[in-house]
Amino acid sequence: MTDTTVREPLLEASGIVKNFGHVRAVRGADFTVYPGEIVSLIGDNGAGKSTLVKMLSGAIRPDEGTIVFDGARVSFGNPQDARRYGIETVYQDLALAQDLDPAANLYLGRELLRGGLLGALGFLDRRRMLDTAEREMSDLGVKLKDITAPVAELSGGQKQSVAVARAAMWAKRIIFMDEPTAALGVVQTKQVLELIRRVRDAGIAVVLISHNMPQVLEVSDRVEVLRLGQRVARFEASEATVEDLVASMTSGEKEGKQR
Ligand SMILES: Nc1ncnc2c1ncn2[C@@H]1O[C@H](COP(=O)(O)OP(=O)(O)OP(=O)(O)O)[C@@H](O)[C@H]1O
Ligand SMILES: [Mg+2]
Repeated sequence: MTDTTVREPLLEASGIVKNFGHVRAVRGADFTVYPGEIVSLIGDNGAGKSTLVKMLSGAIRPDEGTIVFDGARVSFGNPQDARRYGIETVYQDLALAQDLDPAANLYLGRELLRGGLLGALGFLDRRRMLDTAEREMSDLGVKLKDITAPVAELSGGQKQSVAVARAAMWAKRIIFMDEPTAALGVVQTKQVLELIRRVRDAGIAVVLISHNMPQVLEVSDRVEVLRLGQRVARFEASEATVEDLVASMTSGEKEGKQR
């Protein structure tokens, strides 16, 4: 990546706090996303990664803290609010409708209606959704034998690809991905990582949560480290080693190779 110090962040979260009862899940975390980058958010189990991402994508509300997007302070009451800013999320459990086919899943909650009288009566424009879904997935390099088969019949990797394609189809600015390759084999993982690169190359920033450190270094431009609900280090991926990342996740070392 080019020198990130002169770039304006696309998203800047500061002092984010989230408590669940007595559990202090996120304790004043900061997080930064620059335009068009792949940034990994790493940290040990329970560090607060998923909780932080849920707050940045509108799924839950922070107790404290500020989120600045494109230079203006924002507050997301729900995922639809975040979507209006071009922010999409691939959650750990994917949230696909298993009995629907990939095209229907790509348009889930945003179905196209046919125009004219029929549209007014609420008929779905199935043909147009199928065509666009097929084009979108082929643009992203997602290959499915039968695009009309229910998602339940797809492999884990294919499901993951559909979830990523759906996010990529609607995202304009940022996609958050919570452990998108955790359940995948070597080949499928490669495909999903390739998909992530294509999304980034199309100008959309990707925030990747992963426990796979070699993968993090391979695919990311930058890495931010969360420990006990706070950011403890940031790295340029090209300047960091797996040992650097592991040390910062576990030792509470306050400075990584800071920019
Ligand atoms: N809905 C909830 N209710 C109560 N506690 C929660 C809830 N969600 C998360 N927590 C707690 O908040 C802390 C942070 O959890 P979170 O899921 O954000 O961690 P994580 O970094 O994503 O971990 P992992 O790598 O295991 O996915 C944990 O102690 C967890 O038990
Ligand atoms: Mg998590």
